[in-house]
Amino acid sequence: MAAGSNAPVGVFDSGVGGLTVAREIMRQLPEERMVYFGDTARLPYGTKSKNTVIRFSRQIVRFLMTKEVKAIVIACNTATACALEEIQRELPIPVIGVIDAAARVAGSVTKNNRVGVVGTTATIESGMYEKALRQYNEKAEVYGKACPLLVSLAEEGWLHDTITEEVVSRYLKDLQYKSVDTLILGCTHYPLLRSTFRKIAGEDVTLVNPAYEVAMELGELLGREGLSCRGDVGRAGEKYEFFVSDAAEKFCDFANTILPYDIGAVQQIDIEDFETEDLREGETCRRM
Ligand code: DGL
Repeated sequence: MAAGSNAPVGVFDSGVGGLTVAREIMRQLPEERMVYFGDTARLPYGTKSKNTVIRFSRQIVRFLMTKEVKAIVIACNTATACALEEIQRELPIPVIGVIDAAARVAGSVTKNNRVGVVGTTATIESGMYEKALRQYNEKAEVYGKACPLLVSLAEEGWLHDTITEEVVSRYLKDLQYKSVDTLILGCTHYPLLRSTFRKIAGEDVTLVNPAYEVAMELGELLGREGLSCRGDVGRAGEKYEFFVSDAAEKFCDFANTILPYDIGAVQQIDIEDFETEDLREGETCRRM
């Protein structure tokens, strides 16, 4: 049976980074219920092969379906790049990822048609931001830069640190030579480093935050499909559920530094219990 409009939205990520997306959904769509899953036992996804990320994503989606979610948001840029198309094909409910929403905005705000994308190695190598951007702006020149060190720095809490500034500055150098006027923060953790990106990239570069854009897209999607929540579904503590595959306490501590309210309980589950059909190993998440 199809989930009703008061059913929760399912959101998943490789770990804590997707909380930047959860936060935007809480802010923009406060009436919606949400079930969040963070795959803390198996992160990072950004260094893994495409088939591994697809297999993990399928297991998570299968878990979220047991929660009778009405729609799914893939908050993780890497999982969106590697698995969105498969998951969309396989599920009977709407599924969106962070890439399309951000690409649409970047494609329309750029004035010189030169757009930079920063993200994990897997996201950048997939070429999915470039593919999506071209759909909205065929003149766009897209320059990707993998910035693998930034996830650790953000999780360490070094958001406004001189070391983080130095690292961002090194990573952005190539993009600055390309004179990009728009920069997509294409990894869940990078919105937390927004002020550092702003400082290094300068005031003239428009920063696009996929977390913000996908929450907007979710609101539009739910409205269009007649799935927006009707009526009062309870207070924050009742509306939101959090699940992880490991280290629930650490997740809880991190969540409480970035979410607009303190989360009480985080449940740990064995995500491997939700195994689905295996894919062949070997193919990597490279440009298609
Ligand atoms: N959530 C990932 C992303 O947005 C970053 C962390 C990871 O590599 O798992 O790409």
